[in-house]
Amino acid sequence: MALNQGLKLDEHSLITSKLMKKHGAASADAADAGELRIRSAELALVLNLAEQGFIRKDPAAGVVHNLAGRLHELRRKASPAVWQELIPIAQEHRVAEYLLADPFTRWSFEKPRGYSGDASLLDIYYKHPSADDIVQSSPPLGREIYAYTSEAASSVAGRERRAILARTVDETAARTDSAEVLAIACGHLREAELSSALRQGELKRWVGLDQDPISVGTVNRDLAGTGVEAIDGSVRGILRRAYKLGTFDLVYASGLYDYLPRAIGVRLMQRAMELVRPGGDFLFANFSDEITTDGYMETFMDWPLILRSADDMWGIINASVDRNTVDAEVYYGSNRNIVYGKVRKRATGGH
Ligand SMILES: C[S@@+](CC[C@H](N)C(=O)[O-])C[C@H]1O[C@@H](n2cnc3c(N)ncnc32)[C@H](O)[C@@H]1O
Repeated sequence: MALNQGLKLDEHSLITSKLMKKHGAASADAADAGELRIRSAELALVLNLAEQGFIRKDPAAGVVHNLAGRLHELRRKASPAVWQELIPIAQEHRVAEYLLADPFTRWSFEKPRGYSGDASLLDIYYKHPSADDIVQSSPPLGREIYAYTSEAASSVAGRERRAILARTVDETAARTDSAEVLAIACGHLREAELSSALRQGELKRWVGLDQDPISVGTVNRDLAGTGVEAIDGSVRGILRRAYKLGTFDLVYASGLYDYLPRAIGVRLMQRAMELVRPGGDFLFANFSDEITTDGYMETFMDWPLILRSADDMWGIINASVDRNTVDAEVYYGSNRNIVYGKVRKRATGGH
């Protein structure tokens, strides 16, 4: 996929770290030279320690755990502008060669689909059978690192998110006959494999929409004959009301808000609520600002996310809907690495 830096994040979603940076707080500020010197020295120490650990053949889990923790601390201490300067320094350090043996880190960094956070990357940390070959063909050090990165709290939270989505669909089916469901930015829709409602034929339809035609094709191939239908479509198209989708008992977006600036997130939620029937739900998930893998992700995985707190989620909800017309809740997953916002359109009044 060719990059077009002129596109914005609400358009055909060429999510790249460069594009994310353009939207980040750091873009406006120049890094302070004095701070940059100090933080660069701290970074060099952190990276050299990790490299020495690999050279000594220390257990990879400990090496990567310490590295990720130190990068998290450094990211927290550094001003946003200085942190942005540190990212390429880390990526060019010799230790990257060891870390890129990990299939998860490598896929994220290399971006075979041309953008960050594609559905095959998620398959790798979902431990989905379709990613077995990628993991098994990695060198022993890579598999050892993967045993750690795939069990990091953010990966565990991502797998829980998949289960929460399936449970939410099942709950919708339990309270609504012939329920209709829409997944925005569906990726490979792997949650469908966990849904008992889908297995038992209780849904009228489950529509998935994604900007990546490879993912759309994968869903339509893997879930053919189940009532699932995936279509090519973008957030931009939804904002423009470009698709005749009908209405749904559940609309959700998982792994999408992490890339959307607040203003676009608000507009998307407003459009999504137009697609929700009275009594139906809109659910959105976001990696939380409590994750500690952020420094490692932004450097060696080249995978920046817009992290949000419960307050940020409430901010999006309150800016999107008239609170007299909905019942809303915000909650964390079990290890607080992902935060969820759920809005139910009241059966009477409003919208
Ligand atoms: C991290 S994956 C999430 C996949 C799936 N929802 C899940 O939770 O496993 C992000 C997905 O969002 C899609 N995406 C990103 N930006 C988009 C946009 N602007 N419009 C439509 N899809 C988008 C990507 O193609 C990718 O499949």
